[in-house]
Amino acid sequence: MNPELALLQPYPFEKIRVLLDGITPADKTRIALSVGEPKHAAPQFVLDALAEKLRGVENYPSTRGSEELRGSIATWLTQRFSLNNVEKLSASQILPVNGTREALFAIAQCVLDRTAKSRDVLMPNPFYQIYEGATLLAGCKPVFYSISASGDEDINAITDEQFQSCQLFYLCNPGNPTGSVLSAKTLKHLIEKAHRHQFYIVSDECYSEIYRASAGAPVGLLEVAHTMGNTDYKQCLVFHSLSKRSNLPGLRSGFIAGDESVIEQFLLYRTYHGCSMAPPVQHASAIAWQDELHVEANRQAYDEKYDAVLPLLESVMKVEKPDAGFYLWPSLPVEDTSFTQSMLEHQNVAVVPGSYLGREVAGVNPGAGHVRLALVAELDECIDAAHRLVSVLER
Ligand SMILES: Cc1ncc(COP(=O)(O)O)c(C=O)c1O
Repeated sequence: MNPELALLQPYPFEKIRVLLDGITPADKTRIALSVGEPKHAAPQFVLDALAEKLRGVENYPSTRGSEELRGSIATWLTQRFSLNNVEKLSASQILPVNGTREALFAIAQCVLDRTAKSRDVLMPNPFYQIYEGATLLAGCKPVFYSISASGDEDINAITDEQFQSCQLFYLCNPGNPTGSVLSAKTLKHLIEKAHRHQFYIVSDECYSEIYRASAGAPVGLLEVAHTMGNTDYKQCLVFHSLSKRSNLPGLRSGFIAGDESVIEQFLLYRTYHGCSMAPPVQHASAIAWQDELHVEANRQAYDEKYDAVLPLLESVMKVEKPDAGFYLWPSLPVEDTSFTQSMLEHQNVAVVPGSYLGREVAGVNPGAGHVRLALVAELDECIDAAHRLVSVLER
């Protein structure tokens, strides 16, 4: 077997299963605030588009993606992030991927050089664990930068020495689990460092469309590169997905866009890997990227949940409304793991202990003392869950 497999950590949900083993859940309807899986309905017109193109399965798809899909993504990117040159984007700066998870993993296999002297890959902590597994299986070394509420300060605290030994930089913007959004100034700083110290930036922007109306749309990495005159997006790659934006987590559809020299090599890698997107999925995705109305409705539904839930929670825990994403990341007056157990035992509510999303560095796990709450259930259920959280903390 590949010895690097032994380096992989159990996934957070596996650790939670062990933590909760033997606990009998309270005799109440279960509410899951644990998995970041959108529960709003998928748009009907996307399902119709999928059905219309079902016979597309009679053909092998191209790894590069159909012109229809690449054109639709290029138009969306251009409008959303104030870019220009739709034709170039569509021709050579975009690739469809089967969800960002798959691509965030695969890009590391394509870009990283396991024979280099410095094999560091910088990534946030707490984080989306795929960054770590991808790095380890590419024979490189995860190096964590700690994430606090603001995000900007954390990036600005990274030293030139750390940047110098870095091959690849994972950025999660907006962040999971904090929901913080980085400023254009911070992204500019990071791009300058990438050029000076020769590393690639992988910007996981899969939550970019789930933002609070009060905060406005987050700026993206390509947008900032463009305003800096880096119109070829040198060393910059963004990862987007329909999973959260359009409530289509099972469609497995996203894309990567940016530096065409990397996209070209990634296409080569993917041709061998055999991960092209099914033709009906390509067509349905093209249709989904063309519509903003359903995304707007989606944002409104999340905004309503934050407005209803936050006033309840604020009385018992330190919690803030994040600028984007669909999580809450409160700090607790008790241990996160024992709180997770109590929530199941007394209220049958599933949450994620923050320490399971982080790694201990120099004796500190920045996720400890937090829980991650995904406001994915319907409004009534989220309100019910908030009351139950309050009652456990009051005990
Ligand atoms: C930060 C982050 N990145 C990527 C993903 C993967 O999303 P998908 O593969 O559905 O696009 C998730 C899913 O929860 C996530 O939280």
